[in-house]
Amino acid sequence: MSTENLPQSADQQPRKPRVAVVFGGRSSEHGISVVTAGAVLRAIDRTKYDVLPIGITRDGRWALTADDPERMAILDRRQPDVEQLAESSEGVVVLPVDPASREVVYSEPGSVPKALGEVDVVFPVLHGPYGEDGTLQGLLELSGVPYVGSGVLASAVGQDKEYMKRVFTSFGLPVGPYEVIRPREWENDRAAARKKIVDFAGEHGWPLFVKPARAGSSIGITKVDSFEGLDEAIETARAHDPKIIVEALLRGREIECGVLEFADGPRASVPAEIPPVQSHDFYDFEAKYIDSASGLVPAPLTEEQTAEVRRLAVAAFEAASCEGLVRADFFLTEDGFVINEINTMPGFTPISMYPRMWQESGVSYPELVDLLVQAALRRTTGLR
Ligand SMILES: Nc1ncnc2c1ncn2[C@@H]1O[C@H](COP(=O)(O)OP(=O)(O)O)[C@@H](O)[C@H]1O
Ligand SMILES: [Mg+2]
Repeated sequence: MSTENLPQSADQQPRKPRVAVVFGGRSSEHGISVVTAGAVLRAIDRTKYDVLPIGITRDGRWALTADDPERMAILDRRQPDVEQLAESSEGVVVLPVDPASREVVYSEPGSVPKALGEVDVVFPVLHGPYGEDGTLQGLLELSGVPYVGSGVLASAVGQDKEYMKRVFTSFGLPVGPYEVIRPREWENDRAAARKKIVDFAGEHGWPLFVKPARAGSSIGITKVDSFEGLDEAIETARAHDPKIIVEALLRGREIECGVLEFADGPRASVPAEIPPVQSHDFYDFEAKYIDSASGLVPAPLTEEQTAEVRRLAVAAFEAASCEGLVRADFFLTEDGFVINEINTMPGFTPISMYPRMWQESGVSYPELVDLLVQAALRRTTGLR
């Protein structure tokens, strides 16, 4: 990287770019985000970057946390929590909404706000709502601070299983059959909403997958075998999101592919296969995060299949206008690949599928972290 655009320190020497690693957050994936941030803090090149860890509590408070990856791991199957890592239970880290300044401030009730120095780039290590869905990205846009990963639109599209499918369809990517039940439909006329789903099942058969439209990590998802289980599944999904999506069962192998933005554009990794997990009904939260990641890298596919899924993964990245990184998840059915979803901030611990796919493609975890920060530093905020 050239140093001419780098910020100057007080003595006018170019200083290292300062990366704020933001983690935790209000979503159900709080704990895993803290674990991931620990890995990022460990891997980031300290000779090249200065680092400022900022934890977001489950209540949404931006807290100042110690730069201490050791305390950010799973202990006795218990996930770490930002509240326990926070320097104080009241202090707030503020990223001023002022594009002219990148100075971060720390304020505690009753004390004079303290300057924490400038931040050149934010690395949001956050999954799900208020982190991966465009809301945080909007704040960073308003503040004028570049950030790792997708912008407002792509993040929102990647979080909403309905609009994601609509975007993919319009770009010619194959998606499975689905039906959406909007909040008002369920609230105003449950019988009509149930009928809509029963008609859908009549066409595509049971079982159905009932999902919150905007969640993640399999949370709130139920595989429903018959009409009897429908209401409970809908309520389970609605506990996470008033909008739900119902999908037909896709029979096939689960194949994933990583996309990473290099200086010359996005490239796809070698694909991986997620084998069906016996002890779990489907690839659920436990299977994904608590048990060791069991995916096969590279996926045992033919050369043609590998080329096809890599092509589709980059096409999905482009269709949603993603930036930085995306993990694209597919089913390999009898009729070929069907895209299930994209994740704009996929699981990112060193044993998660996305880093493993890049490791197998020749990009180590520390290099991956570096490439993502570099991609973010290359661009500005605003329309681009
Ligand atoms: N339509 C479907 N057909 C078959 N399996 C599915 C379907 N939808 C989801 N699954 C299973 O459930 C898992 C989680 O669903 P997914 O849509 O990826 O939600 P999340 O955003 O929570 O990861 C998938 O990885 C897959 O194993
Ligand atoms: Mg998924």
